[in-house]
Amino acid sequence: MIFTNLIETNLRTKVFGKNIEYYQRLESTNAESWSLIKKDMANHGTIIITDNQIKGKGRNGNTWFMSPSKGLAMSIILLEPLQIKDAERIPIAAGVAAAKTLENRGVNASLKWPNDIMINEKKCGGILCESKILNQNIQSMVVGIGININENKYDFPPEILETATSLFIETGYSHQRELLCAIFTTFFERELNNLSLTLDLWKNYCSHIGQIISFNHKGEKYSGTFKGIDSNGGALIEIENDIKNFTSIIMD
Ligand code: BTN
Repeated sequence: MIFTNLIETNLRTKVFGKNIEYYQRLESTNAESWSLIKKDMANHGTIIITDNQIKGKGRNGNTWFMSPSKGLAMSIILLEPLQIKDAERIPIAAGVAAAKTLENRGVNASLKWPNDIMINEKKCGGILCESKILNQNIQSMVVGIGININENKYDFPPEILETATSLFIETGYSHQRELLCAIFTTFFERELNNLSLTLDLWKNYCSHIGQIISFNHKGEKYSGTFKGIDSNGGALIEIENDIKNFTSIIMD
């Protein structure tokens, strides 16, 4: 059970989270967000949150595992039109907000491009930003975030047992998911109002500048040296002596 009044009490936002849609069980908070946008039933800053996400979407068509009643799965709907170059900074802002949220709860988090949220080299969360484009502008965006909060080691399926962690595992005590949701939303709204500083903050949290990384992009596998991010938030990767630019948002 998630208590939306606990989220509301802890929010320190001007716009985000004024409308919160809670579902006991849902396939995916991102998918539900798109369905509400389509039906014209969402506002800018609406939060969609569930206690049990059964078909969470991860990057590259992967599924995102959430342990019922233990993890945090939520999406924030953005409905203000944006130029594509500005939109690329939004996942960066979400990553910084997530790292700050975990820091606020007592752990040192780092970020791995495109948006893995890491604690002690293990994955504690992920961000999936999906957008719809019209006339070369982003019309709407759904920022989905999943964080492992109160899972113990054996809650994770075998395939991620060794690579995943949770806030509970890292701190030794349980955390209130509503508070985490409110803190993330508050930091995220602040980062979006301060996008010029976000890029530098992201670089400070990034744990792998100068290292070789492998990743999937639009169905293809790439490997190269991660050089940092450009002024729009796209990744700069050196592949065969050439610096290539990769965006982290999914555009439709
Ligand atoms: C990743 O692959 O690292 C991104 C995972 C993003 C998961 C979150 S959970 C809430 C939101 N709803 C979804 O269906 N996916 C995102």
